[in-house]
Formats: sequence, C-alpha cells, structure tokens
Amino acid sequence: MLSGKNILIGITGGIAAYKICELIRMFKRANANVRVICTPNALNFVTKLTLQNLSQNDVGIEEFELKEFKPEHISYADEADIMVIAPATANTISKLANGICDNLLTSIACAFRKQIIIAPAMNFGMWENKFIQENIQKLQNAGRIILEPESGYLACGYEGKGRLCKLETIFDKTVEVLKTEKNLSGKKIVITCGGTIEEIDSVRYISNYSSGKMGIALADAAYAQGADVILISTVNVIKPYRVEKVKSANEMQIAVEGEQNSADCIIMAAAVADYRAKNIANHKLKKTKEDEITIELVKNPDILKGLCEKRTSNSQIIVGFCAESEDLIKNAKEKILNKGCDYLIANDISRKDIGFSSDFNEVTILDRNGGIKQLPRAAKTEIAKEILKEIYG
Ligand code: CTP
Repeated sequence: MLSGKNILIGITGGIAAYKICELIRMFKRANANVRVICTPNALNFVTKLTLQNLSQNDVGIEEFELKEFKPEHISYADEADIMVIAPATANTISKLANGICDNLLTSIACAFRKQIIIAPAMNFGMWENKFIQENIQKLQNAGRIILEPESGYLACGYEGKGRLCKLETIFDKTVEVLKTEKNLSGKKIVITCGGTIEEIDSVRYISNYSSGKMGIALADAAYAQGADVILISTVNVIKPYRVEKVKSANEMQIAVEGEQNSADCIIMAAAVADYRAKNIANHKLKKTKEDEITIELVKNPDILKGLCEKRTSNSQIIVGFCAESEDLIKNAKEKILNKGCDYLIANDISRKDIGFSSDFNEVTILDRNGGIKQLPRAAKTEIAKEILKEIYG
C-alpha cells in the first residue's frame, strides 16, 4: 500500500514511545521505507537497537554525528515523504511551535517542507495547559496535522485526556496524506468565503448567517492537493496559505478582481449581500422620536457575474454557489446561465441539517453544459474534495 514511500518517524521522550515499535511494523508491513529519529529522552523508554531492527535502518539521535557530507537534518528532511512525530511531548510541541532546534528531531522538523503529523501524548494537566494549547493551535495554523490524544487511564495514574491516539488513527492519517495526490500543484485557486458585512453606521451592519465553513473547506482541500490558494474571507482564520480579510461586497470585489488575471480558478463560495446602505453614517445613529425609520439600500455589484464577463482566458474556471430555499434546481439552472459561470454548486438553505453554520452539506453540482450531479449529505470537508474532483477530475 505504501511501497516507494519514505516515512520519517520522530519519537520523543514519553511512555507511549514503546507503542511506536508496533507503528513501525505497521508501516513496514505496508511496504514503506521507515527511518526513525529519537530525542535523547526517548531512549529512556525504548532502545535504539529495537528501533533499528524494526525499521531496518539507522536510527538518528545526535545532531552532530555526521556520516556523510550532507548535514543530517537536511538529508533526512529531503528524502522523507512525510514526518510523523509520535508520541509528541509537551516539550517537543512547544519547541516545534516556536522554531527551537536543539536536537536532531526538532532541527529536522524545522527544515521539513512536506506534511508533519503530530500525535501528542502527555499528562492531562499538561494537555490542558494554556501555553500547550496555544502552541498546538500555532502548529495547526501552520498546516500541521494534530491527532488529538484520547481520554482514559494515563501512565501517571490519572484518568483524563492525554493518551496517545490509536496507532490505527496515525497509520490511516499517514496513508490519507500520502495518497492525496498533489494534482493541483502549479494551479492558483482563489476562493471567497463568509457573509459580507455592509455597514449602516459606525457600530451597526447588515450581514447574513454564512459561517464561511464551505469556502474554508474548499481552500484547505485545494491546499492539501498542492494548489497555490488565496482565501478572500470575511471571517478571521489563520491558515498556512494566504488569507485576505475583507468586509463588504465592494472590498471583496476589489480583492478578487485583483487576483483574477493570474488565477486558474475562482470559487465564489461567499454569501455576498445583494444590497448595502446607500449612506453609511460615520457616527452612531441616534434613536429618533419616530416608531419607524427607513434605511435606503442600493444594489451591490454582482461579483460573480462581473468575473465571468471580465475573464480573458478560456481556461480560467469560475465557480459560483447558489443558496436557495425553494425550487433549488430550477433556480440554479437559471442562475448558471445568468451568471455565466462554469459550475454552480447549489444547496438548499431551508434545511436545518445542512448548509449555513453546519459542518455538513448536501449539494447539487451543475455545469455549463447542462450536467447535473447530486452529492449525498456529507461533511463539508468531504464535499469540498468532491467539488474539486468534479472540476479537475
Ligand atoms: N454573488 C456575487 N455577488 C453578489 C451576489 C452573489 O458574486 N452581489 C455570488 C455568490 O458568491 C454566489 C452566487 O453569486 O457564488 C449566487 O449567490 P446567491 O445569493 O445564491 O444569488 P444571487 O445572485 O444573490 O441571487 P438571489 O439572492 O436573488 O438568489
């Protein structure tokens, strides 16, 4: 299953280190080439000889035992397809999150340009520690995959969250990452997400319930497949790819049009407000004696339609979304023609179990040639992969 793949396993000094012997066997049974590096403390829990025998490779520990000309941390980092750090102690996690390279393992991780899977294991108090959680968040924001520890009996005698996750979880995630083909590498994909915010005065605005989750899932999936991703977002997110924060439809239009000429694909997943206040007060509007007031609204630009009209290259793919609460397919068919996009992803926002704010969605993909494909209800992360598959095959 993993033949030809080079897996670099980093073991740090926690009691769960002994479990990694079995993980090495699982990877070897799947025909992977496995190399192991340990922090010096890991050797308190497992021997170098065991790891060498199981991996059938030298085990790296010290940074300065140079065996060939190329510095070891660079050669390990160059040849591996993926790095798996398990168990990852609180100490190593904090070093990784802060770029500290004081041993071979942390130096390799710092130089590593491909994906790193990190499986923490520690006492539950350490896991809940604010600084550790901040460091975990930092690593996630940088695109590292964290396999959360499980709850149960801990080696320190307490019950709580901190046990290394199941070896199968680490194995399956590694296979998933290695099998994700980088078929979008070299493609620039611009994705918008979230509901636009249209100000009324200095403290009030008109917006909608869009959470941005579908657009973020698409951006994550495209990034995982090697695309150069730009997410133009009304929601705050920290990601390993470029995120441009915008507020209103006008700001979003400027941002997305600024990227249009160099984009291979633009996906308008944002819920753009159709109207904005005609006049925005630069102070807080006071309550009046009247029981009713009127806010005059003017139409926002139709960003998607504008992009389709302005495209100069036939190879640029433009994708729209379509939120409907009735007559989904009929309205979507009209919308794809009216907007002029290549694909339209239609979803029924009247359903409470999918769509806005939910982690799930159920969509129908329409293409400009009249093709219609229904995707069953699934996590937005899965729907995102299916949409990219439909666009790029
Ligand atoms: N869209 C856009 N600019 C707007 C409104 C919508 O670019 N001013 C985009 C959305 O990002 C989405 C698609 O157009 O990709 C369809 O959005 P939707 O709200 O379903 O359609 P509308 O054109 O706004 O029409 P209506 O609200 O009447 O259904």
